[in-house]
Amino acid sequence: MRIDILTLFPEMFTGVFGCSIIGRAVKGGYLELHTHDIRDYSTDKHRRVDDYPFGGGAGMVMMVEPIARCIEQLKSERHYDLVLFMAPDGKTFDQTYANKLSLLENVMILCGHYKGVDERVRELFIDEEVSIGDYVLSGGEIAAMAIVDAVARIIPGVLHDETSALLDSFQDGLLSAPVYTRPADYQGHKVPDILLSGHQKKIDEWRTEQQLQRTAARRPDLLEQI
Ligand code: 6GU
Repeated sequence: MRIDILTLFPEMFTGVFGCSIIGRAVKGGYLELHTHDIRDYSTDKHRRVDDYPFGGGAGMVMMVEPIARCIEQLKSERHYDLVLFMAPDGKTFDQTYANKLSLLENVMILCGHYKGVDERVRELFIDEEVSIGDYVLSGGEIAAMAIVDAVARIIPGVLHDETSALLDSFQDGLLSAPVYTRPADYQGHKVPDILLSGHQKKIDEWRTEQQLQRTAARRPDLLEQI
């Protein structure tokens, strides 16, 4: 899978894309990530990419032409299955959406500044608008990183334990069971006996029960969707 990210701040992605699961997905050849500096597509001698809003008002607006040139350049190089725009008024991202994205070959993600992108960009170039929740970030970059992470970890082969993405919170519509490691007794706080018992069937049953209890207590709305 290949993801192209269009942004005014490509340097924000460098650390995140080199580390942890995303880094492993890239190094293992499962995921190709490319960032594109929208400023490189400005024809202005000062590399300007925004201008004052028609009709007045606070803030600057990202201009259509540099974004259009960047998108058209990429589209001339390969077919894109989906062009996303990160925006708080988009469809809320969830595990089902991540699963859908992970099956695509080429995806483009435009990061802009909410209320700050010329509306014609959205009308002419964007297939879907995506939000990561009901709060406002200053730009789409951090939201795009969240999406890349959620997608990278479910690409088959990326996680060592092939089954572990399937045992996730949300993947089966339930929250995860609690986990423990050594020591078995931390200052009197003990690991549940069942996990030390060696009875795998009983352990599995206990974990499922914990998942149901946790989901009922913390996210009852998830149980209604099953
Ligand atoms: Cl995708 N963008 C911005 N600017 N804020 C957000 C968001 C996206 N998702 C939640 N808040």
